[in-house]
Amino acid sequence: MTRQTSRPRLPAQARREGRGEARPPELGPGEVDVALTVDGTARTVRVEPRVSLLDALRERMGVTGPKKGCDQGACGACTVMVGGRRVLACLTLAVTCEGQEVTTVEGLADGERLHPVQEAFIANDAFQCGFCTPGQLVSAVALLEEGHTGDDAEIAEWMSGNICRCAAYPNIRAAIRQVRDRHEGHASDAVGTAGPGGTASDAAAAQARGFAADPGPDSVGPADPADPADPAHGSDRPRTEGAQ
Ligand code: FES
Ligand code: FES
Repeated sequence: MTRQTSRPRLPAQARREGRGEARPPELGPGEVDVALTVDGTARTVRVEPRVSLLDALRERMGVTGPKKGCDQGACGACTVMVGGRRVLACLTLAVTCEGQEVTTVEGLADGERLHPVQEAFIANDAFQCGFCTPGQLVSAVALLEEGHTGDDAEIAEWMSGNICRCAAYPNIRAAIRQVRDRHEGHASDAVGTAGPGGTASDAAAAQARGFAADPGPDSVGPADPADPADPAHGSDRPRTEGAQ
């Protein structure tokens, strides 16, 4: 019997070779240029192939909206969209984003005008310390585009990759429902007090943009123990790509 000595091929590589396509050049181990579009601006960053998208954004490009909570795919604070799909930037290599469109929390607003999801987070008091908020916002925007908003349990499941230590989950879901219902022309069941684009404080607006801000005096309180859909009381298996 012939002993197999060659390493198994990656399926993509096997497919390329089956089509007679040349193997793409290997990158590294030194630094390489990676061209990508970040929040609508074409950027080039020079990184080693081992550098994560999160570190490339935060440490090399000064895009500090995405947060580093765990750096191991467990919290969702680093969530960004790549090519319109939400990913965990801490588990995504920057080199794999060559030529891609990257959207962070900093790219959600239209100039001074907040994204409807950002406005809804303020209106529904959907954050306390704000550290998880950049990832929650990006994930919520993607969730609404994906259409996983049928009911509270579905929203909770598809947002469960984004952990909130302050347990703002009921308010986050209320914000998502508000945007969903407005989009669908239904009455809103928001729980907040400040109207979108209304009297939100500068600190709240800064948090909603993903920038650091001191926690305001308002808090959302603990998770609702009677709420079975609350990830704090049920499954918290991440749904964001790369976290599974
Ligand atoms: S920093 Fe926690 S999942 Fe990326
Ligand atoms: S960790 Fe989510 S608001 Fe504090």
